[in-house]
Amino acid sequence: MTTNRIIDITELALRDAHQSLIATRLGIEDMTGACRDLDNAGYWSIECWGGATYDSCIRFLNEDPWERLRTFKRLMPKTPLQMLLRGQNLLGYRHYQDEVVERFCNKSAENGMDVFRIFDALNDLRNIETSVRAVKKAGGHAQGTICYTVSPIHTTSLFVDQAKRLQDMGVDSLCIKDMAALIKPQAAYDIVKGIKEACGNDLRVHIHAHATTGVTLVSLMKAVEAGADCVDTAISSMSLGPGHNPTESFIEMLEGTGYTTRVDPEKVYKVKNHFMTMLGRYSEFLSKVTGVETEIFKSQIPGGMLSNMESQLKQQGAGDRMKEVLEEIPRVRKDTGYVPLVTPSSQIVGTQAVLNVLMGRYKVLTGEFADLMLGYYGAVSGEKNPDVVKMAQEHAHKKPIHCRPANLLKPEWDKLRREALALTGCNGTDEDVLTYAMFPQVAAKFFAERHEGPRNLGRDPETGESETQPAEGHQGAITGPITYSVTLSGRQHKVTVTPYQ
Ligand code: CO
Repeated sequence: MTTNRIIDITELALRDAHQSLIATRLGIEDMTGACRDLDNAGYWSIECWGGATYDSCIRFLNEDPWERLRTFKRLMPKTPLQMLLRGQNLLGYRHYQDEVVERFCNKSAENGMDVFRIFDALNDLRNIETSVRAVKKAGGHAQGTICYTVSPIHTTSLFVDQAKRLQDMGVDSLCIKDMAALIKPQAAYDIVKGIKEACGNDLRVHIHAHATTGVTLVSLMKAVEAGADCVDTAISSMSLGPGHNPTESFIEMLEGTGYTTRVDPEKVYKVKNHFMTMLGRYSEFLSKVTGVETEIFKSQIPGGMLSNMESQLKQQGAGDRMKEVLEEIPRVRKDTGYVPLVTPSSQIVGTQAVLNVLMGRYKVLTGEFADLMLGYYGAVSGEKNPDVVKMAQEHAHKKPIHCRPANLLKPEWDKLRREALALTGCNGTDEDVLTYAMFPQVAAKFFAERHEGPRNLGRDPETGESETQPAEGHQGAITGPITYSVTLSGRQHKVTVTPYQ
């Protein structure tokens, strides 16, 4: 082959890799030592910020996420920093009014963020418009994202159509985001090819795929052959299982193909060693899923979420009903119009499936599921089951909506600011107000304790002692679990599911 095309790489070690493998517990002091080599390695970007890392910082690590961002920028001035942004939800779990979205994008860019990967769980592009516009205005790179999912309606042409609409919106590049490792090699090829043909070669296409099902290293290669410009990988010592394909393997795989990378294997080797040493300290948080799980092709529930649902069922004394739940999930998903399963839709569909199995189908609806059915999260690509929409309407006592959900929100910045400033330890900056806006329950405790400085949850491998013991038994849990509380015949049921991206 004589293509000689350069394939760019985004390194995931500082965000998605530790989110997927050690429940997002990596403290800043265990990352700083790798930053120089990461910055000099030749990556297109370094992903280092997102909803779960932000949440984990204030919930578990007593670390200011904005300070973490500034530290990264200081230590990695050459390579663009990248974050994952949930469109109108920012890093939280609800829609924010446009002014809050604009301020968040602005402050993130000001503190050092360069590339904003912006997605909406429903692929409702109206939910990412405001952040795309705000990022571009702040001088950032706005990457429009399509969540990959498999269903009878999710054809290549549907994805290509979404790509075209993102291009029309003015995004700087595109990402195909496969959070559950569902993208098979031929699908990856067809979609990238289709997008390149429809949008032109100038629109960069990035591909993000997890490794859980074992097929996606091949999918990355096929995406490259179809014209993809950049792939996401994680340093080998923090790869595979529910994480991603190893950076070094991807580089080696290109040999003899005519494709090359700018990434320097020597620097990458140092980064590998750094994280290999460090990872041992976090063994108590290590994901239970370490191998390959092809069952995901059926359930579409990512590995990390699966183990959490299992433990929740056990807590309800229904540990033997996992199989029924796994069969129920595709049915519920069909009723929603085939929503992709990613935070927060994965939690909403997963929880409803658990309730359907425990209480009878749609005998109990969570408020979130009713909202999803009624359009309050946005529009889905498929047709919803009208009977279930009717049930949702009766349950929630509200009407279905068809507009962009954020259109219904009133200005809220001043109120958020007032509330944040009333908290002990709030420093009065917009950054603190944003922390409060996104994680109101956790922010108060964080502001009050921030002066104590970061906590490191890693254990000394020699003595087995950690600097600070985790407050609760969070082994294996992923940050930011969402608990739904449901009462039926006087009995209270709590169902908790974990965010997964
Ligand atoms: Co991911």
